[in-house]
Amino acid sequence: MSENMDCATCHDPHDQERGDFQNFSLKCISCHQSQEHSPKTLSLAGANFNDCAACHMPFVDSKAMKIDLNLKELTPVRIRNHFISIYPEENSLP
Ligand code: HEC
Ligand code: HEC
Ligand code: HEC
Repeated sequence: MSENMDCATCHDPHDQERGDFQNFSLKCISCHQSQEHSPKTLSLAGANFNDCAACHMPFVDSKAMKIDLNLKELTPVRIRNHFISIYPEENSLP
């Protein structure tokens, strides 16, 4: 709901950016210079605080995009949740 946020805030459509989590995290940090993470969050094993989207934009099953992998059922495509938020279930990331 940020007034000055659109797709181009984070994405450059002329560049191949997939997987470049450090680039994406810099976009987050441009607005969130500091973050108040609890000791519990900061001590999560395996957490990578250079990858903000891992916790705040977790993968979800797409409701619109499905692919036919085994002829019996459609498998949803896994996409990034663009509702940036705090996902308590991600507190137990590997
Ligand atoms: C254009 C500026 C901007 C960018 C870029 C941005 N944010 Fe935010 N973010 C905001 C604003 C404004 C809020 C609302 C703050 C409030 O309500 O006090 C917010 C809220 C949040 C919240 C709290 C959400 C909640 O449910 O309480 C989180 C977490 C967050 N941002 C993480 C991120 C992450 C991670 C990224 C990068 C993927 C990001 N933000 C990119 C401006 C931005
Ligand atoms: C390991 C998961 C994880 C990662 C990685 C992570 N966060 Fe968070 N973040 C959380 C959780 C959980 C909270 C809720 C507060 C808490 O319990 O620590 C939170 C809270 C926030 C908030 C709201 C609190 C505040 O400071 O206003 C913002 C903004 C935020 N994170 C931004 C970021 C940004 C930017 C990055 C990357 C530099 C990032 N987070 C990386 C899990 C994470
Ligand atoms: C706050 C930053 C931010 C904004 C704003 C944003 N995205 Fe993203 N987007 C991301 C991140 C982070 C990823 C994950 C990239 C990766 O996995 O390498 C992503 C991935 C994607 C993907 C690839 C799908 C996938 O799951 O890999 C598409 C398509 C996309 N975004 C479209 C959009 C569109 C359209 C908008 C505007 C309506 C938008 N994004 C706005 C951060 C953002």
